Amino acid sequence: MFLFSTLAFCFSTSVIYGLDNGLARTPPMGWLSWERFVCNINCADDPENCISEKLYMQMADRIVDLGLKDAGYEYVNIDDCWMEKARDNSSRLTPDPTRFPNGIKAIADYVHAKGLKLGIYTDCGTKTCGGYPGSYEHYDTDAETFAEWGIDMLKVDGCYADPKEMDTLYPQITTALNKTGRPIVFSCSWPAYQVDSGMQPNYAAIAEHCNLWRNFNDIEDSWQSVLSIIDFYATHQNDLVAAAGPGHWNDPDMIIAGNFGLSYDEAKAQFCLWAIMASPLLLSNDLRNIKPEFTELLTNKEIIAVNQDPLGMMGKRVYNNSGIEIWKRPISPESNAQYSYALVFFNRRTLGGPVSVTMQLSSLGLNNESCYSVYDVFNSSQHEKFCPPNNVTVKVNPSGVTMLIAKIFV
Ligand code: GLA
Repeated sequence: MFLFSTLAFCFSTSVIYGLDNGLARTPPMGWLSWERFVCNINCADDPENCISEKLYMQMADRIVDLGLKDAGYEYVNIDDCWMEKARDNSSRLTPDPTRFPNGIKAIADYVHAKGLKLGIYTDCGTKTCGGYPGSYEHYDTDAETFAEWGIDMLKVDGCYADPKEMDTLYPQITTALNKTGRPIVFSCSWPAYQVDSGMQPNYAAIAEHCNLWRNFNDIEDSWQSVLSIIDFYATHQNDLVAAAGPGHWNDPDMIIAGNFGLSYDEAKAQFCLWAIMASPLLLSNDLRNIKPEFTELLTNKEIIAVNQDPLGMMGKRVYNNSGIEIWKRPISPESNAQYSYALVFFNRRTLGGPVSVTMQLSSLGLNNESCYSVYDVFNSSQHEKFCPPNNVTVKVNPSGVTMLIAKIFV
């Protein structure tokens, strides 16, 4: 009896409780305010672009009107700078009353009525990056508050916290979210701060406690910023691919198509590579003023199907020579351990016109003897049969990509 109870005690204390929300079986898709609207709290001078309830409601409207909802975009996410500068008398977080006069629950009700979901932001440290109250020592209260408001996704940043303590802090938030009983997608910044301070993140623990996690620097509205993120992912791809899967994803940060910094080809390259990386697709742009070619890109069914592939296998770079890269992701359908693949041919050269790239399928690891039906994601009605010894040839624009799907015959 004594032995039994000791064993039972050891067992119960050694169990690690991970996130149990069953969410994000494919990478979350939606919109997030940070990159485009940052911490603009000046509603007096800039009422259209300040962080306010109006901004999120308008974006929810546009997600529906532009067909983004039908394409799979679901979350409308509030980032930093939504709060009052101090907690209220019962130590609860409250929104800034002039910019959010009806409270956060009213925005949740509004987006839910449109069939969308609402995300919000806090920080595991004593303050948010923008200097608003952090959740440190208030994890249970804040999780309850967010659940009461009807929040569906929570981004927890890591400013004003010690990266060495994040291995215990983030799991405490996971537990607080589990306790609410409300399914809330959990976005962590845990490895990003650890990488920044020279630590090696424990990705197994991170994948157990978070639905998605930032690994690297914040994206900005420039091609150089996008390239630096791509390089980080290629350099660390073995660790990152092992950590990703249904319910738990690496997050290379927001999609910035439709802003000022990227050409159409660069925006297409970002979107296609993010699909290969099984990344969350969180747009940060102004959907009230987006050019039609960007909306068309962001609703491309073939690229989104790759991103949302049910196998949830993250892809990686498999070829890198003289400014030409090839990225590859296993996708469904699969049969007898043979996968179909999405291939992105990426031209990083900035001199001259489109480059012609020829590759034998077998040299890319496409060895299925029953061959493949191959098509371009922008021309999905035109399929051609290719077998492993055959060469495929694509033209790839400078700072651009060509994306092919190679499906096995099942
Ligand atoms: C950090 C995060 C960004 C954004 C800002 C808000 O820099 O990485 O994504 O949330 O904080 O202050």
